[in-house]
Amino acid sequence: MNSSISVLLILLLGLHLISAASAHPGEADDVLKIHTLSETSPFQDCLSFSYYHQKCPDAEAIINRKLKEWFQKDYTLAASLIRLHFHDCSVRGCDGSVLLDHEGSERRAEVSKTLRGFEVIDDIKAEIEKKCPRTMSCADILTAAARDATVFVGGPYWAVEYGRKDGLVSLAKEAESVPIGHEEITSMIEFFQSKGLNVVDLAILSGAHTIGRASCGSIQQRIFNYSGTAGKADPSIDPKYLNFLKRKCRWASELVDLDATTPKTFDAVYYTNLPKKMGLLSSDAKLYSDPRTAPLVNALAYQPSLFLYQFGVSMAKLGNVQVLTGPHEGEIRTKCNFVNSHK
Ligand code: HEM
Repeated sequence: MNSSISVLLILLLGLHLISAASAHPGEADDVLKIHTLSETSPFQDCLSFSYYHQKCPDAEAIINRKLKEWFQKDYTLAASLIRLHFHDCSVRGCDGSVLLDHEGSERRAEVSKTLRGFEVIDDIKAEIEKKCPRTMSCADILTAAARDATVFVGGPYWAVEYGRKDGLVSLAKEAESVPIGHEEITSMIEFFQSKGLNVVDLAILSGAHTIGRASCGSIQQRIFNYSGTAGKADPSIDPKYLNFLKRKCRWASELVDLDATTPKTFDAVYYTNLPKKMGLLSSDAKLYSDPRTAPLVNALAYQPSLFLYQFGVSMAKLGNVQVLTGPHEGEIRTKCNFVNSHK
């Protein structure tokens, strides 16, 4: 049998299993649908691919040029920007709220303390403001930056739709809902569903952990104090990998690669690590131990091109989460860290 067909069958089987396991009858059809790029935007009337074609024709070129300068100095910023976009879209939708820097803002929340890349977005914004004042939102800049960052590390390209406005509100308390790696699959599925994303998006977007690093603080419990027992480690970690992690993670601030095998390349190896018990975060490992997501992990591990294509599809969906587009919604910030003063 042709390998593409067999993998498609695996995927369909996976979807069937998930359907059987779904705790929400009636929602299954919607939850399980795999979307194609042309179907991904529930806000097609509002966002558009050509939004800046007249207003700021060089916007994408400026963003791309600036990013290349930054990545040449520090390639690890690429992963950080992809994550920053996820955190932005996870709270109040993709509205740049994660960028606001004031007391009690999302950015100041405990869960945001390892977010990076803010200075890159500020730098791009300053350049864009010079060319096209008060035109391009910080939310749009961050969305485009996440796409370009993906391409920079070898991932897929997808066309970004534009027209998001920047939000006026950012609350640290709301950022606490963003998953931090200890969650059960059910709560991650529910979190994604609350954003209009399904279990396939969860499996695919978790594949962003094919690059980037976590601070050891995120896994210390898993390797040193599992289930609250001092000295115990999660038995679902490969013993050699566990040894490596124990040596590497003496300090919570140390950094460790999310993909132990090919940490600098955007590939599907993240998924082949999981059956080998080499998922770094407990939430990564659970994708393989839960019957709702394990078939998807298998399918993605066997068909890397499926991952690469679907990653762009799911990222486009992520970028459309709860966007502000109405004439009286949000604003175009002039600086990404602060709302405009409304005197
Ligand atoms: C499914 C739920 C998710 C959980 C539980 C999760 C959790 C985490 C955690 C704990 C870290 C390490 C933070 C630290 O210790 O510094 C991390 C890093 C990262 N996450 Fe996720 N994440 C999730 C989904 C996503 C999604 C949807 C994306 C993007 C599409 C993403 C992209 C990244 C990237 C690229 C990094 C590395 C950042 C860097 O190197 O600076 N994650 N994630």
